[in-house]
Amino acid sequence: MARIYNSILELVGNTPLLEIKNYEKKHGIDARILVKLEYFNPNQSVKDRTALSMVEEAQRQGILKPGDTIVETTSGNTGIGLASVAAAKGYKFRVYLQDQVSEERFKTIRALGGETIKLSEVPVVAETLDKTNGDFVAAVKALKEQVLKEDKNIFFADQLANPANPRIHELTTGPEIWEDTDGEVDILVAGVGTGGTISGTGRYLKSKNPDIKVVAIQPGKGSIPSDDNPEPEEITGVHPFEGIPAEQVPETMDLNVYDERFEVETEDAYKVARDLAKTEGFLVGTSSGAALYAAVEVAKREENRGKTIVVILPDTGLRYLSTNLFE
Ligand SMILES: Cc1ncc(COP(=O)(O)O)c(C=O)c1O
Repeated sequence: MARIYNSILELVGNTPLLEIKNYEKKHGIDARILVKLEYFNPNQSVKDRTALSMVEEAQRQGILKPGDTIVETTSGNTGIGLASVAAAKGYKFRVYLQDQVSEERFKTIRALGGETIKLSEVPVVAETLDKTNGDFVAAVKALKEQVLKEDKNIFFADQLANPANPRIHELTTGPEIWEDTDGEVDILVAGVGTGGTISGTGRYLKSKNPDIKVVAIQPGKGSIPSDDNPEPEEITGVHPFEGIPAEQVPETMDLNVYDERFEVETEDAYKVARDLAKTEGFLVGTSSGAALYAAVEVAKREENRGKTIVVILPDTGLRYLSTNLFE
């Protein structure tokens, strides 16, 4: 039977689940570690799901009309996903990016026809960050208000507050894991940025089996900016969700979904991603290294012997070649 797709958007989701047998053997891991390879999405990250979901929901609700511009602020992968969806569906796209985001991301978005603006170049963002002692959620809110005031033909996707973000993981990522494992999954490990991935996937899996444990990754103290170390190497896409003021937690993060919070430092994430590349033969990004680092630590616990641990690996390492991830 012929199988020809009609749009790149039909290829979003249904990513493979791989048991990393070489890695398990090398590290003497007595559990099954299954990695969900989100770089198999057409634009190489989990955020293709979120981008498509937010745009199609806005179309359904009639808040995104032909000729409109889609706008977002993001650490990069959502921008790439939205640029792709905008190109494939014929919308304009503009993204505000954090300055430290890798050059590959800026270039990829522009190659897909999107406009990129550095957040540091937007006065309202700098002013709000200053006023609120670095509250990024408040800065995005202020930016959103200003953008919507200036132009009526804008759809601001707002992945930090858009329910279509976690919902797509409840509708696709969770069910894919459940089906691909025949329901044999004990632990889910995932990083938290907006919290969309872990909230939607975790909620679905727990609805099928409440005994499934969900482990949420947060950057360690050495990997978040502080007075002593204002510019540490960060884990792109992963942010603290505990130990910060409640109003700074994204609305898309369900604080009831996880059973354990696990802190990982960037250097440990790098080591794991490098080791995985040489042991298994594929490249993933820093947040994937962080998630796998935590999964291995959890797998080593006596009570987890023989368990099945599913780890979400959000994106490709190719997006980090200009960074310190791979030497
Ligand atoms: C590379 C990477 N890893 C992890 C995440 C976290 O995913 P979520 O926003 O669904 O929590 C993101 C989100 O931007 C990301 O870009």
